[in-house]
Amino acid sequence: MKNHVWRPLYIAITLVLIGVVVRFFIVPADFGVHERGYMYGWHRKSNELEWASLPVKYRTEKVCIDCHRDKYADIKDSPHANISCENCHGPNYDHPKNPKALEINRSRSLCLRCHAKLLYKGTLRGSMKGVNPESHYPQAECMMCHYPHNPKRPMQEVKQ
Ligand code: HEC
Ligand code: HEC
Ligand code: HEC
Ligand code: HEC
Repeated sequence: MKNHVWRPLYIAITLVLIGVVVRFFIVPADFGVHERGYMYGWHRKSNELEWASLPVKYRTEKVCIDCHRDKYADIKDSPHANISCENCHGPNYDHPKNPKALEINRSRSLCLRCHAKLLYKGTLRGSMKGVNPESHYPQAECMMCHYPHNPKRPMQEVKQ
């Protein structure tokens, strides 16, 4: 073959060789095809353990029942039955040790994130009962009138 064919071919071969050598050094030994074949094996095996050892932060409402039975009973009997405690109170990673108490957020924005009325329905969020934040008792905490663990009950009734 002529030189004008060999020269670019040398360059191509050299690039491939560099690729193979670099790959040999930077790709971890446990990367690639594992027992399950190509379909799910395109990752580093030891990475599975790294993910499994991450501390769990959200632990679902089931862990709250034993200590806050009254709140659990209230909410399960209310239109808020499907909202998880941690949706409003934040993650329970090791409560009541750490944090000792979970967050109590009394801001209007906590509720308005779901209840600010949307003008255009069509999604599930749009069909939820909504209020206009500017005219629905502005300045007042929602909890003044609505008991969050059962919004059908007025707060005055609960506080008695
Ligand atoms: C092992 C018992 C236990 C479990 C489980 C538990 N709590 Fe608590 N919780 C407590 C205790 C005790 C306190 C009071 C801590 C303090 O103020 O020193 C508390 C405080 C709180 C507070 C603050 C109350 C206040 O008046 O300031 C909230 C909110 C709360 N817990 C929500 C939850 C939620 C939501 C869950 C489930 C995700 C949960 N807790 C699971 C025992 C528990
Ligand atoms: C829709 C949001 C929301 C959900 C869901 C929710 N909470 Fe609350 N929670 C609040 C608010 C707001 C307060 C503060 C009420 C007040 O100002 O008296 C509160 C207060 C509390 C308190 C402390 C005050 C008290 O009255 O003793 C505890 C404990 C608590 N919640 C536990 C729970 C548990 C357990 C669940 C799940 C079964 C839950 N909450 C679900 C919003 C929520
Ligand atoms: C994660 C979303 C979410 C959050 C946050 C939330 N709600 Fe609700 N709320 C709902 C759903 C879902 C319903 C029942 C279905 C519907 O209204 O379409 C409901 C129902 C209600 C109702 C109507 C009860 C009735 O008469 O039928 C009131 C009032 C209410 N919530 C007040 C509050 C208040 C106050 C807060 C803040 C403490 C709050 N909500 C936070 C989702 C939410
Ligand atoms: C001063 C008392 C008061 C305050 C504060 C208040 N509400 Fe209400 N809310 C009511 C009353 C009374 C009703 C029922 C009559 C009506 O629809 O106006 C109601 C109704 C609702 C409904 C049901 C609407 C429907 O279509 O049936 C939702 C949702 C609601 N409020 C959410 C909120 C939220 C979120 C906040 C805080 C941003 C809040 N409310 C603050 C008294 C109050």
